[in-house]
Amino acid sequence: MNLRGATALVTGASSGIGAATARALARHGAGVLLLARTSRTLESVVSSVRRAGGQAEAHPVDLSDAQAVDRLFDVLDARGLRPGIVVNSAGAGRWLFTEETSPAEMVQQMAVPYFAAFYVTRRCLPAMLAARAGHIVNVNSPVARIGWPGAAGYSAARHALYGYTHALRLDLHGTGVRVTSVIPGRVSSEYFDRNPGVLERAPRAANLIPTVTPDQVAKAVIYALQHKRRVVVLPFMLRLFFALNAAAPRLMEWLAVRTGYGHASVS
Ligand SMILES: NC(=O)c1ccc[n+]([C@@H]2O[C@H](COP(=O)([O-])OP(=O)(O)OC[C@H]3O[C@@H](n4cnc5c(N)ncnc54)[C@H](OP(=O)(O)O)[C@@H]3O)[C@@H](O)[C@H]2O)c1
Repeated sequence: MNLRGATALVTGASSGIGAATARALARHGAGVLLLARTSRTLESVVSSVRRAGGQAEAHPVDLSDAQAVDRLFDVLDARGLRPGIVVNSAGAGRWLFTEETSPAEMVQQMAVPYFAAFYVTRRCLPAMLAARAGHIVNVNSPVARIGWPGAAGYSAARHALYGYTHALRLDLHGTGVRVTSVIPGRVSSEYFDRNPGVLERAPRAANLIPTVTPDQVAKAVIYALQHKRRVVVLPFMLRLFFALNAAAPRLMEWLAVRTGYGHASVS
């Protein structure tokens, strides 16, 4: 896909993977709409894009609020802003056992990333389908593909996003609209400060996978867009874990349980 002159929308663009992706898209010549809740941090990413000669604007919105998302898209539609590229990167969620998770927290875990990606995508699709072109990239977590203990609600939300991404790709077959899952391993973003306790619960086996930077994930998103990839997994070591999981799922479960944060390991 030609990124120069495209209109791209990035969620979670105030921080981490989303902010790095917004900057990378702008460097490749796309005009970028940045979505997240916090105006101050969004505006600082917009300023850095503009200083580098790119085009960007900030749109503060709580993506867990379907009506707020609709109101924003009504405004964008009225201005004729119809993104041809969407990167759904907004996400949050602590890693908790089921009995530690209140119903409200579970709803929040599901709301961002999964509901948010759904709300945004449903408003972007009509214009993409009419243009017979577009690309939706959903940023996901390894836990969408490999089970590990200590993060039941987080895990369910990433499975929901993965299932949605897969089904959407099949729905859109032959329409000219592409759909990609980008799955990074651990990323050196602010995610761990914003969601306390996550690092402590990561399975020790995951320490074998090198941490990647938000810029590396952004590069993978650009690669997926330019090379029309269905799924991009990084770094290479994570691909080996996925291959091992496919070939020997019980071995992978054993590894997750032995090195992870299950009830048995904390009692
Ligand atoms: N970091 C990792 O190791 C890693 C690895 C694999 C996958 N992932 C996944 O990738 C996604 C992005 O992670 P990240 O590392 O970039 O995290 P991050 O630095 O914490 O960024 C999360 C972004 O989501 C936005 N956000 C959260 N709740 C929102 C809401 N209700 N409405 C609108 N925006 C919201 C945040 O902005 P505001 O707070 O301003 O709204 C922020 O821009 C997450 O789903 C995460 O699970 C992360």
